[in-house]
Amino acid sequence: MGGTNPYIQQPDVDLPTRKYKITFLPMNKTIEVDPERFPYDHNGLPGSVLDIALGNGIEIDHACGGVCACSTCHVVLKEGYDTTNEALEEEEDQLESAPDLKSTSRLACQCVPDGTKDVVVEIPSWNRNLVQEGH
Ligand code: FES
Repeated sequence: MGGTNPYIQQPDVDLPTRKYKITFLPMNKTIEVDPERFPYDHNGLPGSVLDIALGNGIEIDHACGGVCACSTCHVVLKEGYDTTNEALEEEEDQLESAPDLKSTSRLACQCVPDGTKDVVVEIPSWNRNLVQEGH
């Protein structure tokens, strides 16, 4: 599954107009994001943290295929939160069921940085554990 959820309003997104860097923790892998290559993958909004991660070999769990219908793609923005689109109520509702919620938590599939600053994203340990167990 992938694409967009027809049952929710689509978020208002400012796509980047230039390249920027996004670093994923704890693996500390930095990717140069090139907006001309969007979408990188076919899960989540084009240019979303999930789209960028999956398209560059970084696994983030995404049970609903990136359509804002689960909370498995929960990530925490360590830097650059202010460069991302505003979360819709539907995203906030899904996030409420994510464990270990932080003030800069987002759903990776709905979070699109605008590229005005570099971004640092932490993948929560419970999500990493899934990856290590090979799910
Ligand atoms: S993958 Fe389900 S909400 Fe992001």
